[in-house]
Amino acid sequence: MIFKPLNTPIKDWSACRVWLVGASSGIGAALAQDLLAQGAHVVVSARREETLKGVVAGYPNGHIHAFDVMQAADWPIALAQVEQVLGEIDLVVLGAARYDPQRSWEIDLATVQASYELNVISMYTGLHTLVPYLLKKPNRGVAIISSISGYTGLPRAMVYGATKAALKNLTETLYFELAPKGVSVYLINPGFVKTPMTAANDFHMPSLMTPEQAAQAIRAGFEKGLFEIAFPKGFATSLRWVAHLPYKLRFWLLHRMTNM
Ligand SMILES: NC(=O)c1ccc[n+]([C@@H]2O[C@H](COP(=O)([O-])OP(=O)(O)OC[C@H]3O[C@@H](n4cnc5c(N)ncnc54)[C@H](OP(=O)(O)O)[C@@H]3O)[C@@H](O)[C@H]2O)c1
Repeated sequence: MIFKPLNTPIKDWSACRVWLVGASSGIGAALAQDLLAQGAHVVVSARREETLKGVVAGYPNGHIHAFDVMQAADWPIALAQVEQVLGEIDLVVLGAARYDPQRSWEIDLATVQASYELNVISMYTGLHTLVPYLLKKPNRGVAIISSISGYTGLPRAMVYGATKAALKNLTETLYFELAPKGVSVYLINPGFVKTPMTAANDFHMPSLMTPEQAAQAIRAGFEKGLFEIAFPKGFATSLRWVAHLPYKLRFWLLHRMTNM
């Protein structure tokens, strides 16, 4: 029992039908192309239809469904249309998000609200539609893209990091409640990845990965049946350990690690 993976390992991608939400660029787009190359049947979603078309171009097993995750009424429509295209959905990956670096003395309430609405509320909106579908048949799965910035408070991450910490907690509960009912639940925690989201960062991003490396790490995690898929391994593991230290030591170390 203790050595059994927390989720059923995915072994045969050619039999897997995947819906990736937030996949017009960055990690989602790279994951789509990685899974398409493995033979999975994939639908990519985000708002930009033309960009989505570019992601799946050249893959006969790739399809698109453009929609805005903030529009609650569009989720049931999207689910029905994606199911129609794929026949069945085995795995949904939810990754639409925004990143708004903010310092504690510069709180911008409009940005705080927009971040929570996209990064957190739209997840609940999606899950409200998706969970009943996932429960209808065994061996379906859902993956939520959080971030290692959800492990602990970090400089400039008072909004983004807090939304990602919320997703970590919510995904743990999802696993707790849905796994016994036959649903695979994954928590994806990337470190720094070179995507449009991080393009404006003016600080050194330790252990920066390419989206393709991130996609490979995510696929490897699905294939191992992990619950938490965190990468890059060294950076994610050290931050996880730091996050478990007593606050006195944790804050001292984080000041040193971030030079802030
Ligand atoms: N890059 C990193 O270092 C890093 C680190 C940790 C975690 N992450 C997480 O990884 C995920 C992907 O991020 P990324 O770095 O790949 O960023 P990205 O390239 O900016 O991707 C964000 C995606 O979200 C979609 N999106 C945004 N608003 C949407 C909306 N209202 N409706 C539907 N789709 C929407 C965007 O597409 P449209 O604009 O076409 O809608 C885009 O496809 C995010 O959850 C992010 O928080 C990233």
